[in-house]
Amino acid sequence: MERIIIKTQTARSEILIGENWESVDGMLPGSGVVIITDDNVLDIYGDRFPQFPVFSIAPGERSKMFEVIELLAEKLLSAGIDRTGFILAIGGGVVCDVAGFLASIYLRGIRCAYVSSTLLSQVDASTGGKNGINLGNTKNVLGNFRQPEFVICDPSMLHTLPDEEFFSGLAELIKTAIIGNERLFEMIERNHEGILRRDTELLSLMIGMSVNFKASVVSEDEKESGLRRILNFGHTYGHAIEISGLARHGFAVASGMEIATSFSLLKGLISEREASRIRDLLNQFNLLREYNIPDYQIEQLILHDKKKTGTDLHFIFVNGIGKAVVEKIPVAEVLSFYKYYKSGKQIT
Ligand code: GLY
Repeated sequence: MERIIIKTQTARSEILIGENWESVDGMLPGSGVVIITDDNVLDIYGDRFPQFPVFSIAPGERSKMFEVIELLAEKLLSAGIDRTGFILAIGGGVVCDVAGFLASIYLRGIRCAYVSSTLLSQVDASTGGKNGINLGNTKNVLGNFRQPEFVICDPSMLHTLPDEEFFSGLAELIKTAIIGNERLFEMIERNHEGILRRDTELLSLMIGMSVNFKASVVSEDEKESGLRRILNFGHTYGHAIEISGLARHGFAVASGMEIATSFSLLKGLISEREASRIRDLLNQFNLLREYNIPDYQIEQLILHDKKKTGTDLHFIFVNGIGKAVVEKIPVAEVLSFYKYYKSGKQIT
């Protein structure tokens, strides 16, 4: 088991990689705990949950809305949860987002921790303290930064994930490798079979590498005023694809990373060979699909991006495998590159 600490100016969060999720029972207070999960996780693991009240939400992005927060807050009140209460989220990114946001605002904030059950949340979403819900079709508009006391990442839970969900998470693991860890990138290149088999030891090692990188970034820039922006590599185009309803988060980000890689190549930040290695790795796991979103639609979605500041946005480029750089560029440039990229795809 690997223990990784995220230390910010105001909080400390322990990420336990390879810990058996059922040991969570011994890490909780004796009373005042509620568990928030989703119906899929409840079906598979519910009979082994610690003995506390369980509130389950519908799986998927549609639960990231204010009505769900309101409903859960009412349930917490009815269960007599006061300021000494503790929310344990057991689930993937959506459950952690919803439970984390609720914990941060209920009675002005109560304690929380996560058992992270998907690859996407283990390598990225559950660590770093971001939470959030959507507003209409704009993602994560309402939310804040609040570190969970601990996060358990048990790779054995990944065996029950549907393929699409597993590969969606793999895209975020590849993202970390591209922006921050060349060794991880090579390890993913070399271990195709082991990854497909969901080898627990291999996944533990790779999740640990991903979380270690994220912990170093978040410990330096918790509130995303600088360095943390690099974690959004592939997300400008990716969010637009995801919001179109055409792809799960990871698949959308994979395509977003491919476009951002081509953009980086055009800018002379990476070599043809490095760009090919990135594309090949994404293709090796069938993460790149055709979406054919019209330019005007991408334009509207990118203009809605909450990370846009005035007419500019922070765009993440890759400048070598394992390295990323943030540049503030005009939104118009992001849009015109998309048109250029798409027309090139039609020609080939
Ligand atoms: N998922 C990006 C971040 O946590 O900052």
